[in-house]
Amino acid sequence: MTQDSRKLNEEGRRMWDTKAAFWDELMGEEGNRFHRELIGPAVEALLNLKAGELVLDVACGSGMLARRMAALGAEVIAVDFSAGMLKQAQERGQSGETPIRYQQADATDEEALAAFGEGMFDAVTCTMALMDMPEIGPLYRAARRLLKPGGRLVFATMHPAFNSNNPVFTAEQADVDGELVLTNALKISHYMEMPPVKGVGAKNEPSPHYYYHRPLHELLGEAFAAGLVLDGLIEAAFDPEKVDPNRPLSWYSFPQIPPVMAGRFRVGG
Ligand SMILES: C[S@@+](CC[C@H](N)C(=O)[O-])C[C@H]1O[C@@H](n2cnc3c(N)ncnc32)[C@H](O)[C@@H]1O
Repeated sequence: MTQDSRKLNEEGRRMWDTKAAFWDELMGEEGNRFHRELIGPAVEALLNLKAGELVLDVACGSGMLARRMAALGAEVIAVDFSAGMLKQAQERGQSGETPIRYQQADATDEEALAAFGEGMFDAVTCTMALMDMPEIGPLYRAARRLLKPGGRLVFATMHPAFNSNNPVFTAEQADVDGELVLTNALKISHYMEMPPVKGVGAKNEPSPHYYYHRPLHELLGEAFAAGLVLDGLIEAAFDPEKVDPNRPLSWYSFPQIPPVMAGRFRVGG
């Protein structure tokens, strides 16, 4: 890892510690609408978890996915680099017969992740965190080493084409044949290259953190370079039936544009 990445990663860890309690309260037991309606269903469909499977949940945050997987009967080890987030997760308690094992680990440290047990895991998961990491190659390479033959790495992230580093939300109103018609659109000015930017993950959060945009050829390409093969992809958008007319400039009003992308990699031959 470069010196710059190391510094940014360390700064990111401090930021997550600062806002751990805020984030945990915001997410609650089952997450916000993004988690309940987009991320959770997409990840569960791709994961297709079986009771008794061993899973490493990387960047577990306040432990929502870890608790859900444990409730489905999996044996879960959940790691995050923020001691604050791990404390919040632990305080939320257990949800399955086998207790979730929480441990501090940095996802940009390939050896630290691989030390959890090479060839031991049925699945590795990482939700809504790849975009928070200055480097993702180490996590992909570690997953390749941790997974059993046929094992899968399931991820969810902000869709890099539409929901990456500050898309501009617009709403236009026009009189069309005597009727007022509202059209929502996103303005995207950059895709191929964008420097890391500090962004707010949620309104009023105490400490914005860095987001790292990666075009698809990097987000997926780094996994291919690590020996992983993509065999499932879901682009998740909000239900058109639930558009909130009072919030035209929110993702909930863009049912044609997916803010979340989830994918499944398997160990290549
Ligand atoms: C947006 S939260 C997502 C948490 C959870 N996976 C979810 O879906 O709700 C991002 C999490 O990634 C963690 N994180 C960011 N960079 C990390 C790294 N390099 N190593 C481990 N955890 C990291 C943060 O501490 C935070 O808990």
